[in-house]
Amino acid sequence: MSAIKKAKTKVIKPKKLAISAAEFARRRRDLMACMEPNSIAIIPGAREVRRNGDAEYAFRQDSDFYYLSGFPEPEAVAVLIPGREHGEYVLFCREKDATRELWTGYRAGQEGACQNYGADDAFPIGDIDEILPGLIEGRERVYYSLGKDSEFDRHVMEWVNTIRSKVRAGAIPPGEFLDLDHFLHEQRLIKSAGEQKIMREAGKISARAHTRAMQICHPGMREFQLEAEILHEFAMAGGRYPAYTSIVGGGENACVLHYTENAAELNDGDLVLIDAGCELQHYAADITRTFPVNGKFSKEQRALYEIVLAAQQAAFDTIKPGNHWNEPHDAAVKTITQGLIDLKLLKGGLKKNLEKGAYQDFYMHRTGHWLGMDVHDVGDYKVGNEWRVLEAGMVLTVEPGIYVSPSNQDVPARWRGIGIRIEDDVLVTKQGHDVLTDGVPKAVDEIETLMAASR
Ligand code: GLY
Ligand code: MN
Ligand code: MN
Repeated sequence: MSAIKKAKTKVIKPKKLAISAAEFARRRRDLMACMEPNSIAIIPGAREVRRNGDAEYAFRQDSDFYYLSGFPEPEAVAVLIPGREHGEYVLFCREKDATRELWTGYRAGQEGACQNYGADDAFPIGDIDEILPGLIEGRERVYYSLGKDSEFDRHVMEWVNTIRSKVRAGAIPPGEFLDLDHFLHEQRLIKSAGEQKIMREAGKISARAHTRAMQICHPGMREFQLEAEILHEFAMAGGRYPAYTSIVGGGENACVLHYTENAAELNDGDLVLIDAGCELQHYAADITRTFPVNGKFSKEQRALYEIVLAAQQAAFDTIKPGNHWNEPHDAAVKTITQGLIDLKLLKGGLKKNLEKGAYQDFYMHRTGHWLGMDVHDVGDYKVGNEWRVLEAGMVLTVEPGIYVSPSNQDVPARWRGIGIRIEDDVLVTKQGHDVLTDGVPKAVDEIETLMAASR
């Protein structure tokens, strides 16, 4: 028999999901309908970022730019000019270039920008200094997000100054800069049917990845090895990149909220916290599970875990249209506080502890955030001074936790260094809500059964 073992990997067929050209066009139309008369909007794409030497970080298109254009290349600028006779949507992008394409890959070019990405008109990015001032000239208002990219800010000022320098020859410079973000981000906050489909799939893939990690985990493994299992599952299903750097924290590393070293050994008797989600077609999933490295919760771990799980359920129960953004957080805080009192980790009654915010020693972050193209997605949490009211189509995370600091001298030693978070992604529906990431177990018995079956 050969000494070389055959690798066993189940190859699944990734689902083909994409936002349609019609939807990208509708987004541009809807945004232009919000713009003041006689205005122009300038939306730059993301830059390539050098990592070291000749290597660059994997390119990720800017979310606002991609939301409107679906255009995946660097060195691109979208311009929206409502009412322009020769077309309202202009895209500046790289020219086709056989030599460059041989080295770094396909470019759509100007023809491709019009044919495949819905641009009415497209120009080489190298010509933007000559062409864009002419498009701005005569428009009273410019929609542009100042302050995000100082180099691009400078270009915008130069283009406006080019027009100003010609005022005596009759040129009319814009008189006002306006922020596009508000309208655009309100649009992004409500997910269309197409977006929901992609986010549902991202949730399923990420849930499978967490399940795989539970099945494979055993004492003596290193944190990055669990991370590798997670990334493998993402990529095999078409979510090649994670939506954010994965957190795999064993033992007290789980108490470091943004722990990403992922290098320690996983110890028998500890819990491990994994916060990881894939990005699919520019949409994020965001899941956290915490489970015992050896497959069996200790008494203390289980007691704290049950509180976090109950807090998550209490938060879920408040999610429906008409309720406000902060209700899930209030519900989670109340459950966690009562749970800590019951375990004698907090002294005194519920009311006093809530007033004092005593839970903050154990639970120091909020219960969730909007989720979409960005893991911490856009959209206001307050309107005026009031918490935002939930509407169908919004997607949020629900991620309560309890973290007992290893140095907390106010609690008996047996509780110290336990960190737990449980996080799922929730779509607000007309009827209430739908959990997009429930494909991965989270009840104590379910986790223990799954892990025992894969020993
Ligand atoms: N993974 C980032 C977060 O949960 O907010
Ligand atoms: Mn989150
Ligand atoms: Mn997370």
